[in-house]
Amino acid sequence: MAPLDRIKAPIKDELDAFEPHFRSTVKTDVPLLATVMNYILRRKGKQMRPMFVFLSAKLNGGITEETYVGASFIELLHTATLIHDDVVDETYERRGTFSVNALWKNKIAVLAGDYILARGLLLAVKHKAYQLLELMSQTVEDMSKGEILQIQKARKLDITEETYFEIIRKKTASLIATSMAIGAASTTKDEATISKMYQLGEHIGIAFQIRDDIFDYQSKGLIGKPTGNDIKERKMTLPLIHVLNQSSKADKKHYIHLVRKKNKNKAKVKEVIDFVISNGGLEYATSQMNEYRDKALSILDEFPETETRESLRELILYATERKH
Ligand code: IPE
Ligand code: IPE
Ligand code: MG
Ligand code: MG
Repeated sequence: MAPLDRIKAPIKDELDAFEPHFRSTVKTDVPLLATVMNYILRRKGKQMRPMFVFLSAKLNGGITEETYVGASFIELLHTATLIHDDVVDETYERRGTFSVNALWKNKIAVLAGDYILARGLLLAVKHKAYQLLELMSQTVEDMSKGEILQIQKARKLDITEETYFEIIRKKTASLIATSMAIGAASTTKDEATISKMYQLGEHIGIAFQIRDDIFDYQSKGLIGKPTGNDIKERKMTLPLIHVLNQSSKADKKHYIHLVRKKNKNKAKVKEVIDFVISNGGLEYATSQMNEYRDKALSILDEFPETETRESLRELILYATERKH
């Protein structure tokens, strides 16, 4: 069995029931929008965030109607974010096929993303899920700030390791943290539990994004989105930041110049990638990733040993060892 299928086993029935629930949230009578929505629904992602929501609910009491609302809202927000992200990053591949902006251009992609987010908001309002709305609004704020900070740093190329962590905590870890918090909040009122789950999710999210950033230095075709794209967008991530910190002044100047001025030149981008790889950038990023993974695992260890806990453990390992 594929690793994700094995991890899904204890929540298989719930994930099956989640599918039509999620699908129904983006129903529309506007034909062009319906075409875009059908396209999006056909090319599902890994659905890791709904898995986090369900597993967190199960770990802390049990899955409720609210868990479904939370899981749908999370996956809606995630989907909208990716559609917007591909506009911002000028990326034309996603989930192994064309991105929405590649097929319908930026205007439609921006509006389709807005539509999906609005459907999530309405879903929460319809269920009077105000805590969910509060948590999600905070996350949208965090994600937007993280993305903007990233752009600011891509303009100046003065990013430090500390800022890198701030960016990924906001743009990626906040949503995974919220997935865990929402799962818990759908089944318990205990605030300490909810914040513990948030913390656990934040560690997972940081590890997950470091993995994603490492992928950008590896060969194409693994993950259904292009590689080398970060440098093209002048995005300096952990492997490069670390290697530059260890480099001579001359090297630093040279490679920052390449990122600044030659970022659309494939051979020069490759020169930067080779420099990062041959100077241990990926090993360093991997060791940082593993530290966050271990922090997450040690929080998980506080829970009694159950099938759900084991699934979460495997999902955490998957997030850091995944091949796509
Ligand atoms: C991609 O997330 C965006 C990042 C935060 C790196 P996923 O890798 O979970 O995307 P899908 O949903 O499986 O396509
Ligand atoms: C992840 O950002 C998407 C968000 C968290 C908004 P990236 O731009 O790094 O992710 P990919 O690699 O395109 O999925
Ligand atoms: Mg991107
Ligand atoms: Mg991006």
